[in-house]
Amino acid sequence: MRKYSFLLLLIFCVLLLVNCAKEIEKLKLVAAADEPYQLDIPVQLPNYTIPEDNPITKNGVELGRNLFYEKKLSVDNTISCGSCHVQSKGFTDGKKVSIGVRNQVGKRSAMALVNLIFLPKNFFWDGRSTGLEHQIIFPITDPLEMDEKIENVITKLNADKKYKQLFLNAYQTEEITQDKIVKALAQFERTILSTNSKYDQYLQGKYILTASEERGKKLFYQHPDGNVPNTPRGGNCGDCHSGSLQTDNLLHNNGLDDTFTDLGKEQFTGLASDRAKFRTPSLRNIELTAPYMHDGRFATLEEVLDQYNDHVKYTQYTDPLMRASNFSGTLPQELGLLPSEKKDIINFLKTLTDSEFISNPKFAQP
Ligand code: HEC
Ligand code: HEC
Repeated sequence: MRKYSFLLLLIFCVLLLVNCAKEIEKLKLVAAADEPYQLDIPVQLPNYTIPEDNPITKNGVELGRNLFYEKKLSVDNTISCGSCHVQSKGFTDGKKVSIGVRNQVGKRSAMALVNLIFLPKNFFWDGRSTGLEHQIIFPITDPLEMDEKIENVITKLNADKKYKQLFLNAYQTEEITQDKIVKALAQFERTILSTNSKYDQYLQGKYILTASEERGKKLFYQHPDGNVPNTPRGGNCGDCHSGSLQTDNLLHNNGLDDTFTDLGKEQFTGLASDRAKFRTPSLRNIELTAPYMHDGRFATLEEVLDQYNDHVKYTQYTDPLMRASNFSGTLPQELGLLPSEKKDIINFLKTLTDSEFISNPKFAQP
């Protein structure tokens, strides 16, 4: 009899162990299947290259999207990237200059995030960052923005089961590192594409510009010849806001000031020839991204057009492309656009609004 009870006990113990092992197995996370992320880029947009060591995958983008909207990236868990880069505002924040943790006032206006995949370098208003992967640490550690240490971000994410699963899905290991955080965020940012504005549709032959938009487009690209009297008036805008991205991705001094508080590119190169040079911003969704310029000094597009038309400051630092825009041989000279022509240019700029982009659930908070 005692022999049987011993045997029963033994069987019971074995069953218990087997069950325990099964429970442990259940707790172990399993990586979800991954695949390359399909980017849908129409022909009117240029070619791009992405870093070889950071291909875009479905799970990488999903992790990046969660991180983009994750407040744990900031020191007091109050703001995420998405707090300053708001989708409905073309991924800027509608403020003159950005507001960081503890309501700290930043130095510059939050940039609109759009079509970053086509930007090979010159990130930030002053172009000081060399690439998306390089850029991401700045806002996290900037004392006026998120003011957090990467080690603390990693500790906080490690304590969150959701991230163990998301990192496992994206990288086949639960281990969280700075490199993995950066790469996933960059992957997500590369998917933030605006490709379906009225102007895109026009370029594809699917939309006909109104008469005013058509006039505005001509004026936008028209480059008056400073040496030929009575050449057609134009805004000369397309010299810098060029191509289907509406930017040359280069830095210029566009004549906003003659005394300089923000030195722009000079701040990190130390070269006077870089004084107050800022990167030409894309004009995509410009209708939604007010206020304008690196310091948000203009509240409306009307004010921007007035600036380019009537108030350009010609100093030794002003870009030659601004000077060449003058249609009188003597410089400095104003563009001389009529009020109706400024309105036409603004109407053209509004064809760059992409309503699909600002409501696309793929870019929204998960
Ligand atoms: C407190 C507001 C704030 C937060 C939070 C913030 N940003 Fe920004 N972002 C800015 C400002 C301001 C700039 C322009 C800074 C400059 O030029 O010096 C900028 C610029 C950028 C740029 C450069 C875009 C370009 O075209 O060059 C990228 C990319 C970017 N932010 C991504 C992010 C990501 C990713 C996060 C989260 C990790 C983030 N930002 C968090 C305010 C913010
Ligand atoms: C010499 C190159 C150049 C020319 C020509 C030029 N721009 Fe700009 N544009 C820039 C640069 C650089 C900035 C950013 C300047 C800054 O923030 O300090 C800018 C900023 C802007 C902004 C604000 C964008 C934002 O996100 O805040 C608008 C709008 C704009 N330009 C429209 C125009 C229009 C319209 C014309 C023609 C009338 C024009 N630009 C001509 C280089 C140029």
